Amino acid sequence: MNILRKIRLLSSVTTCAVLVNAPIHAQTSINFTAAQVESGKAKYKEVCQICHGSSLANGQFGTPLRGSFFRAKWQGKSLGELQQFMVEKMPPDNVMSLTPDQHADLLAYILSRNDMLPGEAALSSEIKSNNAVMLPW
Ligand code: HEC
Repeated sequence: MNILRKIRLLSSVTTCAVLVNAPIHAQTSINFTAAQVESGKAKYKEVCQICHGSSLANGQFGTPLRGSFFRAKWQGKSLGELQQFMVEKMPPDNVMSLTPDQHADLLAYILSRNDMLPGEAALSSEIKSNNAVMLPW
């Protein structure tokens, strides 16, 4: 067997091993866009920061919205559940004051601050369609 064929054979074996070892996730990422993050960030500053803090984890009156405590609390739950909580309960002093789109943008901002990256597709403002999307942490 010539050396080139040997290398080719070897590399196809490695590719195979990598594929087999790759973890299987139902969904590895959540869709949201950079534009949603930007507009969510502005709304957050205006409405939420007063309680949840400028870093999302240094609020005097609200629980942290990023980091291990927040993630542990929502682990195994769906994106829709988190969205529903926000829509029904936040901001507590003026519930139902924001539109579904504004809540979707705020959620995108919160996800981005929990180390998730934006992409091409937007996060839906429909809770129903997000009930099937599991939070990835
Ligand atoms: C008046 C203070 C206040 C404001 C303003 C406020 N929050 Fe909250 N928020 C809280 C408190 C208190 C909790 C904890 C309530 C609970 O767990 O039932 C909370 C909980 C949350 C949670 C769940 C956190 C967890 O650990 O489960 C999210 C998400 C959230 N808020 C998002 C928002 C967003 C987005 C805004 C702005 C639209 C906002 N909050 C505005 C006080 C506030």
